[in-house]
Amino acid sequence: MSEEKIKGKITIIKNGPYEVSGGVSIYEKVIVPKGRGYELRDGRELPQEENYALCRCGKSKNAPFCDGSHRTKGFSGEETASRQKYHDRAERIEGASVDLLDDGRCAFGRFCHRQNGNAWELAEASAEGDNRQEAIRAATECPAGRLTAVDKDGTEHEDDYAPSIEIVQDPERRVSAGIFVKGRIPIVSADGVEYEVRNRVALCRCGESEDKPFCDASHVTTRYQDRNS
Ligand code: FES
Repeated sequence: MSEEKIKGKITIIKNGPYEVSGGVSIYEKVIVPKGRGYELRDGRELPQEENYALCRCGKSKNAPFCDGSHRTKGFSGEETASRQKYHDRAERIEGASVDLLDDGRCAFGRFCHRQNGNAWELAEASAEGDNRQEAIRAATECPAGRLTAVDKDGTEHEDDYAPSIEIVQDPERRVSAGIFVKGRIPIVSADGVEYEVRNRVALCRCGESEDKPFCDASHVTTRYQDRNS
């Protein structure tokens, strides 16, 4: 998917919602255990609009959409995340036949867990059996974009996603999770500066992340549930 074809955009409003323009498809997805790993299944249908505003404060009574509650609840949505590029932030962890880039930005999606271990264990043992392929899966399915599988010659593994927004539920933990943004959709800060465009990124929607606008799994500790808010 080339960048030129993407007409969608996410613009962050100061102490307010994410404004989505350009007809970006939006879906609800549910994290479901599968063996010792996880998969995403379809949730309820959401309306498809050319432009829409997604709640960022965690207080909307019409989640995932903004209902204006951020104004009355005194939401402080200051963007505190590093703006260094991924390759400058990420550590390279050597495995036997495949390495991992890891920037530590975790949205608690748990797709790094596979049947025979997690991404780090699988990369370390990637000379054996199907561990190499499994390590690559574990990294490429990380919705936060924290992990990237890299061959020894520097080739990076990345799935090709159509631009889309996924509103995520996590019933195993009895919480609502973040917003998975796939397919290189540009995200523009409230100060007008565009974040590094990435194929996978997870945005906070509980309002509690300390790494705004990105999800840092605070929805788990704060027990965020979008339908009871
Ligand atoms: S950002 Fe508007 S209601 Fe949450």
